[in-house]
Amino acid sequence: MSEDKFDLVVIGAGPGGYVAAIRAAQLGLNVACVDKRGEPGGTCLNVGCMPSKALLHASELYEEANHGMAQFGVKIDKVGLDLKTMMGHKEKVVSDLTGGVRFLLKKNKVEYIEGAATLKDATTVDVALNKGGERQLKTQYVMIATGSEVASLPGVEIDEKQVVSSTGALSLPKVPKHMVVIGGGVIGLEMGSVWSRLGAEVTVVEFMDRITPEMDGEVSKQFQRILAKQGITFKTSTKVTEVKKTKTAVTLTVEPAKGGDAEKIKCDVVLVSVGRKPHTAGLGLENVGVVLDERGRIETDAHFRTNVAGIYAIGDVIKGPMLAHKAEDEGMACAEIIAGYAGHVNYDAIPGVIYTMPEVAAVGKTEEQLKADNVDYSVGKFPFSANSRAKANAATEGFVKILSCNKTDKVLGAHIIGANAGNMIAELALAIECGIAAEDIALTSHAHPTEMEAVREAALATDKRAIHA
Ligand code: FAD
Ligand code: NAI
Repeated sequence: MSEDKFDLVVIGAGPGGYVAAIRAAQLGLNVACVDKRGEPGGTCLNVGCMPSKALLHASELYEEANHGMAQFGVKIDKVGLDLKTMMGHKEKVVSDLTGGVRFLLKKNKVEYIEGAATLKDATTVDVALNKGGERQLKTQYVMIATGSEVASLPGVEIDEKQVVSSTGALSLPKVPKHMVVIGGGVIGLEMGSVWSRLGAEVTVVEFMDRITPEMDGEVSKQFQRILAKQGITFKTSTKVTEVKKTKTAVTLTVEPAKGGDAEKIKCDVVLVSVGRKPHTAGLGLENVGVVLDERGRIETDAHFRTNVAGIYAIGDVIKGPMLAHKAEDEGMACAEIIAGYAGHVNYDAIPGVIYTMPEVAAVGKTEEQLKADNVDYSVGKFPFSANSRAKANAATEGFVKILSCNKTDKVLGAHIIGANAGNMIAELALAIECGIAAEDIALTSHAHPTEMEAVREAALATDKRAIHA
């Protein structure tokens, strides 16, 4: 076995790990980054954010061509679906992006090693190389960035054909007639939207009384109404008690979450999207005594330190939202801390976006959280139906909602449901990061005609002085 010496070994080349490796190398450390997947980019680039966004965009174009363009006087006689080409586009997006990460690692002189890493002790990482053989890496620091993996339900076996996770749902060979989605969260609604637009009947079974239960209640109610209008069927407050497969169909038994009469639903594909769990198997944490929390995540302090000196952890494998940009932020901050600088992540200012049509975006507190914390706050809301650009684009569904503090006028939370919500939320994330007041947004010139004017109007509305509503 060959032995190599590094300052830092990063385990996992997802958005957390590869960004951390590059930042540490920029700061002068000799860095190796190990990933067993082969291609770098982690869940995000290979089977997560990017392939799902490629399919969301493509299926949105198909939906627009079918139903959205006639109102603008654009006539299309025959719209056809070429699923193979659509999947080919998605695969090219993935390979271009993972190739880009390889290039960036090389450019920054990070050694990228394809293989499965196991901690032998706090300063030794054994790698079973994908191409065969082993390497032993000696290092001063280790950063664990091994991400997360699909969670399933007891008794439900994911075969990635009839019962699929998000990974299988990204590569179905044909459009299902009927897809049942278990879990009305982010993955279920994004992938459910893709297949619904491409022609599948989609039924979402959600255990809680509303979809995306963590979101601001007003937003999630409107979101559900809009998706239902698009043709998705929702069964909320419902639990799945059995999933039975035959060669040609899957039958689910569902019943009210609080108990009651059972019902059978027959479909050809089931998507299980009930959350993800931290990926720690095979890492050898037991060899070094790294402590996990009650949900199996690696326990860290505010500086990403585990209980073992020299071993750090970031991204989906530790607490906090499972988001690519949160993993990146932590990766950069952790690399800076290891290199002797002051890295920091502001968890109050991390946006979350659901890339459906319309998109849903949020940053900071929900109304429910502010009420629970007894905060004295104002609500400023502005509908896109009163925004001139949204009218011109015939994209008037949704609203901007800003929550501001009645004592300081600072923005505490913002929630947008609308066509470009994912881009629009950036201004409000910056507002929270910089402690900006709603009045500052209201005083800032916003170009006309843009959807961003709805943000300014919502800021004005926190002081009951919106102009166009
Ligand atoms: P990961 O990206 O999971 O990377 C961890 C890597 O570690 C993996 O490549 C794995 O192979 C490797 N690894 C694990 N164990 C070992 C080992 N022992 N040795 C070597 N390598 C190992 N987030 C967003 O912000 N926006 C989105 O639009 C979005 N869309 C998503 C869509 C889907 C379908 C899914 C599933 C997720 C999506 N996410 C999205 C979440 C996002 O992908 C994750 O939050 C993000 O990838 C976490 O980054 P990470 O670096 O912590 O871990
Ligand atoms: P999720 O946590 O978003 O949603 C899971 C849903 O399943 C919840 O609504 C929950 O109430 C429900 N549920 C749980 N158990 C259930 C049961 N037994 N029966 C019925 N419903 C049940 O998890 P999801 O959608 O699997 O996504 C995993 C992670 O991936 C998320 O945490 C998210 O952060 C990340 N992700 C982010 C995306 C984005 O940023 N656009 C896109 C896709 C994933």
